[in-house]
Amino acid sequence: MCGIVGYVGPQKAEEILLSGLSRLEYRGYDSAGVALLTPDGLRLVRQVGKIANLVQAVQRAGLTGHLGIGHTRWATHGLPTEENAHPHTDCTGRIALVHNGIIENHRELRAELVARGHRFQSQTDTEVLVHLVEEHYRGDLVEAVRRAVARAVGAYAVAVVHADHPEEIVAARQGSPLVATARPAEGFLASDVPALLPYARAFYFLEDGEVAQVRPGSLRVWDRHGRPKEPVLREVPWDPLSAEKAGFRHFMEKEIHEQPRAVADTLRSELSTPWEEGLSGLDLSRVEHIYLVACGTSYHAALVAEYLWEPLLGLPVSAEIASEFRYKNPALGPTTLVVAISQSGETIDTLMAARGAKERGAPLLAVVNVVGSALAREAQAVLYTRAGLEIGVAATKTFTAQIAALALLGLWLARARGALTEEELRQAKEELSRAPRLVEEVLQLGPRLEALAQKFYTYPNFLYLGRGLLYPLALEGALKLKEISYIHAEGYAAGEMKHGPIALIHEGMPVVVLYSADELPEKVVANMQEVRARRGILLAFADAPDPEVEELADHIVLLPRSSRRLLPFTFTPALQLFAYHVARLKGTDVDQPRNLAKTVTVE
Ligand code: F6R
Repeated sequence: MCGIVGYVGPQKAEEILLSGLSRLEYRGYDSAGVALLTPDGLRLVRQVGKIANLVQAVQRAGLTGHLGIGHTRWATHGLPTEENAHPHTDCTGRIALVHNGIIENHRELRAELVARGHRFQSQTDTEVLVHLVEEHYRGDLVEAVRRAVARAVGAYAVAVVHADHPEEIVAARQGSPLVATARPAEGFLASDVPALLPYARAFYFLEDGEVAQVRPGSLRVWDRHGRPKEPVLREVPWDPLSAEKAGFRHFMEKEIHEQPRAVADTLRSELSTPWEEGLSGLDLSRVEHIYLVACGTSYHAALVAEYLWEPLLGLPVSAEIASEFRYKNPALGPTTLVVAISQSGETIDTLMAARGAKERGAPLLAVVNVVGSALAREAQAVLYTRAGLEIGVAATKTFTAQIAALALLGLWLARARGALTEEELRQAKEELSRAPRLVEEVLQLGPRLEALAQKFYTYPNFLYLGRGLLYPLALEGALKLKEISYIHAEGYAAGEMKHGPIALIHEGMPVVVLYSADELPEKVVANMQEVRARRGILLAFADAPDPEVEELADHIVLLPRSSRRLLPFTFTPALQLFAYHVARLKGTDVDQPRNLAKTVTVE
């Protein structure tokens, strides 16, 4: 949520800031701005709308400099207007600040600062921070930022520049991500690695409570007590090309097609990685309940794991929505294993739910895609998905990679608990190794799904139905459609339809039914009949040619036949492609749908 970039060095700062912001645009895109130190002092350019507007405005202003900070905003406090866009400046106009997060005590701080004569220009919570820096500034910018953020309650990642400090950016983190790096004569910082991939491959991931100073060729860090700390940089495995569209129309389309690789790489990373060591102290035979905690698409992956794991482990396994789990006072302790799942590893609801569980003595395992992310650091053990950088705001390849990782993890837990023999484990792994090939096969159905989308992209409502393992996939199919095409779509357990949603079905209502010979096929056929009897339009995604399904369905997408464990790898890409083509035909902003942000760092 919101993206920050900072640069100091011999290159044109405005170019690096704008290119960095455009790579971070997935974090927020209602307004954007930069502050540059020019020979005439600190100058701001801010624009409502996308980065493209800001690029033009910076060009028109003809500004250039060697020190600057930039921001792309996802509004929390105050409308997306130019005054509310970051950077914000203090009363003297000599200090500029960008912020990602929420300052919860901003009202009290603002009242205090106004009473002391500070003049505010925006409705944001952020602006209090820059006035606090102004109050504490006595010539040492690091000290001023440290004292300012000490007054703030809430989550923040901030970057601050001062007109009298032409070679210095000061940053601080509490709850919102920030990475920094330096190379000879240059210094960089950003909310997220992709912004800086063209310039560096090794980064320092700031910890909560830390303050950093970025100068040409140097990066200094202090911990929450003000003690200096040696910043150890981590290599990231992503290359700059992963941030290009490579001939596809959208990042989402590219990422859907990258799934065979994402799944294969995740399966290959196998069970030999250090995450297993992290769990070695845990006596798995004592585990009595497993909670899988996540949000959004990652929650759907958690639900898939619940369906896969429970029969395998013979233990209660529950998928939980992180924002609910956190506050419902769950009964947790050393015998409850918590598995937190997150692409970004920065989603605040998941992070806080995981932290809370750990504090109550539950062993914590994380499944994340971003190396070094907050959740990865929080957990006792981490299983990384190897999906690579995902730029499209809608999760695609990270979802199937999560399922691959969770399927493997389930097998490992089953073996560790003695619920699976070595031979069964070998067979199950061999079965899973077919997943990438299956995804590839489904991707060949692109033209068929595009033609189907052509018929349906004008419909205002959809229902998605599935049973068993196909139920979470129905939820995910509906989520993909609604978030990128803005069509109202609901996912439902097919058996629940008759308990309410059936009232929605009328002549001309499209109902997507997921049908597999492996998941209660007769029951699903019965549910299809119920739709048919009410003249709904049936779109069947089926992995087995069944005469009854053929007779009932208005349209059938025939998927490759696999096995129960592999169902997510055939149904998911087909549903993703259908949603993608519907949205593309509707002309929505597929990669950056309205109101969404890739990483949700506010509650
Ligand atoms: C939907 C989507 C979101 C995320 C959710 C959690 O396509 O991307 O629903 O899945 O915001 O994000 P992570 O996985 O980063 O915790």
